[in-house]
This record gives sequence, structure tokens and C-alpha cells, in this order.
Amino acid sequence: MKSMDELFYAILQDVYYAEKQLVKVLPKLAKKSTNPQLEKAFADHLEQTKGHVERLEKAFAMIDKKPRGKKCDAILGIVAEGEEVIKEADDDDVLDAGILAAAQAAEHYEIARYGTLCAWANQLGKPQIARLLHQTLEEEKKADSLLSAIAERAVNRAAMSA
Ligand SMILES: [Fe+2]
Ligand SMILES: [Fe+2]
Repeated sequence: MKSMDELFYAILQDVYYAEKQLVKVLPKLAKKSTNPQLEKAFADHLEQTKGHVERLEKAFAMIDKKPRGKKCDAILGIVAEGEEVIKEADDDDVLDAGILAAAQAAEHYEIARYGTLCAWANQLGKPQIARLLHQTLEEEKKADSLLSAIAERAVNRAAMSA
């Protein structure tokens, strides 16, 4: 990698891989959630996540590249931790709190990545890509805030009394 354009392309591939993993994982999280608000949050974010994949495909087209994923160990690690919690939690409320925390780790990863991509897109003179990915960044932030609200309102309180 010798240029910022190449680095930008590499991170785009990283987050494309991550989003595609999340499209697979979010239905599992929805299914495992026992709190109905949490289940709905995952189902809704799944639909948004499919849109994130599409936006990335548009971004690839805007730099004349084919959409390609590049294995992202960070998201695989977060997903593995979530799966561990699902396996090991022996109480429904503890399970909900654990998967909610894993999901927030994924959202924070996405927020970091999209923040970087938006800043670099602007610096590289690609404001349309910055605007496009900024929409995703805002959806990730909202998803994260909603998970925080659900945690504070219900899930963590229930889990603490488990
Ligand atoms: Fe996303
Ligand atoms: Fe997300």
C-alpha cells in the first residue's frame, strides 16, 4: 500500500466484509434475544445493515472497483465473543445483557470505521462517497444509542437481579 487511495480501498473492503458478517449474525441475535425490544432492535438493524452493504457497493463503483471483502479479524473476534456469551449464559436476562454488549462492540467498530472512511473520503476529494457513508455512520450511531437505551431501561436492570 503506497497511497491513501489504496489504504482507503483496503478499509472499504474491511468494512464490507464486516457488514456482510453482520447480515449473517443479526438474525441469530434477534432469535436468541428474550427481550422483545432487543429482538426488534436487531431485526430493524438487520434491514439497515443490508442497506449498508448496498451503500458500500455504490462506494466501490464510485472508485471503479468491484465490491470485495477482505477478512476482518476484529469483527470475527467480536462475533466469536457474542457466540461464547450465547453458549455460556445460563439465565435469559444475563444472555440478553451479554448479546447486547457484543452488539454494541460491533456498532462501535462500525462507527470507528465509517468515521475514518468519511474523513478520508473528504480528504481524498471524494465528497459524494463521504456523504453516502455518512448516512451509514448516522444509522450506526442511532443503533448504538438505541441499544444503550434498551440496556439502561430494561436489560441490565433485569440481569442485575438475576
Ligand atoms: Fe452497518
Ligand atoms: Fe451496525
